[in-house]
Amino acid sequence: MKLGVLFLKIAALYFLVGVGMGLTMEIIQDHRLAGAHAHINLVGWASMALFGFLYVLFPKAGETLLAKLHFWLYNISFPPFMLGLSFMLVGNDSLMFLLMVFPNILVLSVLFFVINVFMNVKAKDFTLSFNKDQNISS
Ligand code: HEM
Repeated sequence: MKLGVLFLKIAALYFLVGVGMGLTMEIIQDHRLAGAHAHINLVGWASMALFGFLYVLFPKAGETLLAKLHFWLYNISFPPFMLGLSFMLVGNDSLMFLLMVFPNILVLSVLFFVINVFMNVKAKDFTLSFNKDQNISS
C-alpha cells in the first residue's frame, strides 16, 4: 500500500481515538487528558491526513527514502510519546523517559518531511488519478 494511503487510514484511526477521548472526558467529567486528546487530534488525525493527501497528490514525493523515514519514525514515535504525555498529565512521572526520547524522534521525522517537501514536491508532478472506467468529465 502507498504511504499516502497508509497515512490517511492511520489518520482516520487516530481521529476515532481522539474524538473518543474527548467524549469520554466529557462523560466522566475529568479533563486531565485534554493535552493528549488535542495532540492525538492534531498530530495524529489532522497532520497525518495532510501528509496522506500530500503524498497521494504528489506520488513522487511519497516514494522517496525521506518519505519512508518520515512515515516510520513518525508512526513509531507518536504512540509512546502520547503514552508518556498521558501519564504525565495524570500526575504519574514513571514514564517520563518516554517524553525525553520519542518527541525528539517525531521532530526528526518532521524535519525529513520538510526536506522531502522542499526537494520533491513539484507542481509538474501533481497527480489526480481516476479509475480507468471513470469519465473525467462526469
Ligand atoms: C467529539 C469530538 C470532541 C470532543 C467531545 C472533545 C472534547 C474536548 C474536551 C472535553 C476538552 C477539554 C477542555 C478543557 O478541559 O478545557 C477538549 C480540549 C481540546 N480539544 Fe477537543 N474534543 C473533540 C474534538 C476535537 C478535535 C477534532 C480537535 C482538533 C482537531 C480537538 C482539539 C482540542 C484542543 C486543541 C483542546 C485544548 C487542549 C488543552 O487545552 O490542553 N478536539 N476537547
